[in-house]
Amino acid sequence: MRPGVAARLPAAEAVAIVLNEGASLDDALRVVLARVATELAPTVRSLSYGAIRGFFRHAKLLGELLSRPAGRLEPLVRALLSVALYELEDRRSPDYAVVDAAVEVARAGANARAAGLVNALLRRYLRERARLDAALARDPAARFASPAWLAARLRADWPEHASQVMAALDTQAPMWLRVDARRTTGEAYAASLREAGLGARAEPRVPYAVLLDAPCDVQALPGFAAGLASVQDLGAQCVAFALDLQPGQRVLDACAAPGGKTALIAERQSALHQILALDADAARLERVRDNLRRGQLAAQTLAADAGAPANWWDGAPFDRILVDAPCSALGVIRRHPDIRLRRSAADLEKMPRVQERLLRAGWSMLASGGRLVYSTCTFTHAENRGVLARFLSEVTDADPVPPASWPDRPDIGVADPYGWQILPGEAGADGFYYAALKKR
Ligand SMILES: C[S@@+](CC[C@H](N)C(=O)[O-])C[C@H]1O[C@@H](n2cnc3c(N)ncnc32)[C@H](O)[C@@H]1O
Repeated sequence: MRPGVAARLPAAEAVAIVLNEGASLDDALRVVLARVATELAPTVRSLSYGAIRGFFRHAKLLGELLSRPAGRLEPLVRALLSVALYELEDRRSPDYAVVDAAVEVARAGANARAAGLVNALLRRYLRERARLDAALARDPAARFASPAWLAARLRADWPEHASQVMAALDTQAPMWLRVDARRTTGEAYAASLREAGLGARAEPRVPYAVLLDAPCDVQALPGFAAGLASVQDLGAQCVAFALDLQPGQRVLDACAAPGGKTALIAERQSALHQILALDADAARLERVRDNLRRGQLAAQTLAADAGAPANWWDGAPFDRILVDAPCSALGVIRRHPDIRLRRSAADLEKMPRVQERLLRAGWSMLASGGRLVYSTCTFTHAENRGVLARFLSEVTDADPVPPASWPDRPDIGVADPYGWQILPGEAGADGFYYAALKKR
């Protein structure tokens, strides 16, 4: 196989698996990379991520260039066009080389007719680029590769921030680290990273957060194997401020896997009486155990449905409960751009019922005077303030704990009726919502 084809064909195949099967891009890449030479894997990964990231922008471009809807193209050809358009946008390879390689890939993976179409479309794109870019500039949703349902949700929920959030979601997420504050500080760890040749800075508002200048392999991080640092977005790290952990408390992490927040809790307060890390997904719970082992942290783990305490709870109330609920995950689109292809408006409608069930069950296990923190990595009002509003209308013993009273809360995000919303891109963080409720 010619070098131009060797990485581009598997990249297009991974994208086509996402289109055909609704698989996640990471799962699709696992399938495809199993038959690709190891040294090509980073290129396959970056081409397929770039193609998926720009998918809805490319759909708009193809709509301008094609006489029929782009959705009617054979998935592999549609995927290949997004790989090539991403490369042309990225401008790291000469235009002619991108077009030639795409035509060759079309011939190798599809057929001669597809190769002709790919050739004609990409050449026309290059000829009409100025007109096409002007069309994109007039349409922020298309420009920032947002599907219509996402743009509509943002305009409805965050009218003043919609374009800014769409732009943020169209970027690549930075790599944030959480350092184990029992053993070091963000400042000290960032200095050790710089000594190791890795550019980094500590985030002054969250003393255990460190931002790397560029993503790197975790094995290159000093002390990673010993749990000195862990990969965790800045937004997720902020949940600790709402929990206000105190010595001797019993803590339930109700939706724990893969355990980022369980480890954060254990690091933030080493004198807790107990941490119970629960998750419905037994396989994902294994990752919680791995994270705890690496960080030399103690917590019990249990595979169980947090919404059905009767099946597993011993009846001893918890002082702190974190419900880091399953959600639409729109706040982490920068990291998982395939979310834009795999979710729909209908999916968003289903989430609040799931979240409310977990919130109600969590509340039944909370001690009087205890605190429940509800969090999501999304920004839809229905999944955040809407879930809390409905819950608060059902119970008589819950009081929202105003974010202004959370000790040391960093000023990152905006106040929401019951909690605090970090919108994607703010301070370099992913989107994250968190609110605390106190039981009378
Ligand atoms: C947003 S993720 C949690 C991320 C995790 N807290 C962290 O910081 O690493 C949501 C988790 O909820 C789990 N989950 C979904 N439904 C659940 C249920 N009924 N009971 C317990 N866990 C559930 C999923 O398996 C998933 O691991």
